[in-house]
Amino acid sequence: MKGKNIIVGVTGGIAAYKTASLVRELKKRGANVKVVMTPLAKQFITPLTMATLSQNPIMVDFFNPENGEWNSHVSLGIWADAYVIAPATANSIGKMANGIADNLLLTTYLSAKCPVFIAPAMDLDMYAHPAVQKNIALLKERGNFIIDAEEGFLASGLSGKGRMAEPETIAQFIEHYFDQGQDLSGKKVMITAGPTYEKIDPVRFIGNYSSGKMGYALAEECAERGAEVTLVSGPVALSPKHPNIHRISVESAQEMYEAAAKAAESADIEILCAAVADYTPAQKEDHKIKREKSGAMQLDLVPTQDIAAALGKMKREGQMMIGFALETDNEETNAVGKCERKNLDFIVMNSLNDKNACFQHDTNKITIFDRNGDKHAYDLKPKKEVARDIIDHALSLMNKK
Ligand code: C5P
Repeated sequence: MKGKNIIVGVTGGIAAYKTASLVRELKKRGANVKVVMTPLAKQFITPLTMATLSQNPIMVDFFNPENGEWNSHVSLGIWADAYVIAPATANSIGKMANGIADNLLLTTYLSAKCPVFIAPAMDLDMYAHPAVQKNIALLKERGNFIIDAEEGFLASGLSGKGRMAEPETIAQFIEHYFDQGQDLSGKKVMITAGPTYEKIDPVRFIGNYSSGKMGYALAEECAERGAEVTLVSGPVALSPKHPNIHRISVESAQEMYEAAAKAAESADIEILCAAVADYTPAQKEDHKIKREKSGAMQLDLVPTQDIAAALGKMKREGQMMIGFALETDNEETNAVGKCERKNLDFIVMNSLNDKNACFQHDTNKITIFDRNGDKHAYDLKPKKEVARDIIDHALSLMNKK
């Protein structure tokens, strides 16, 4: 973590006294540290202690009342390579999970584009409460790293799970992230994600249920591991968080093909994750089609470009291509056939027959088939962890080549 910029966020819990040691640990490992505190945190550990240890003035308020100087949460968010919130109280966790922004620590959280590490600390009953657990699960699902509370003696005199992880554990966790994290450095990745919309007339289209969550999780994973990512995205309700993700928003299969083919020219890895329409209306009407009084309506459809197959034909030596297969029947045979036909290095199969997998869900259950027929099955996991498995697999194949 030498030279990395880390924001340490301190919320108002008794474990804040341990955050002084955390700042010391991060500094010892070569990081630049800036501390943001909530107003209550100042009651638990003094700003002077934190400023002295971090070698930077601490920040609590949106501006300095003496001279009006603005503490910009946006520029803080841009400065940071990591944001660690330790201790994170039940109150702050609840606010983070719900987008509440009533102090500088929280506005910085909402603006941060870097990975966020959260070390909860509270009494055992608060920690076990379903509301708190739900908020922690939500933050985890959104890609925040939770450094789990530990069991042991608590300030209340009780004993149980709720102690903040030790400063050394937290520092090690972050260090591990930085060490592991950069194995895609210098690589360019092109990802297609989401559905396509095929225009029928100015108000109607043919679409599908793809949410884009898997493709966006892959984009975040690749960017966090140091890649420069071009994300060619159909219409979705998501926005990429990482600054190394360059999104190109498209609507139709044709637009997606054009953007993907251009980005593929310089890509080292191509991931075809989009749910592309196979057919598009032959005629796109400029005026709203009127309802006829009786009788059925015919819509002529023509095939779209198979982006994966087209890029497979243009594939360069050393380029890696990964496709997806969403199957309902004959899953394995279909997936393996597509891998061959589209010239992919491997195909990631997900099945609509698995509960909580595929469309719309935050979790997925995948099986990977390599070009040589090797099969790798994985458990149901959050899509961010699935993305990690896919990239780990891609790198293991690239290293073998
Ligand atoms: O639709 P199909 O099951 O053939 O999709 C398999 C793979 O091909 C996926 O990776 C998908 O993103 C890609 N594909 C594509 N363009 C299409 C259809 C599918 O890139 N028109």
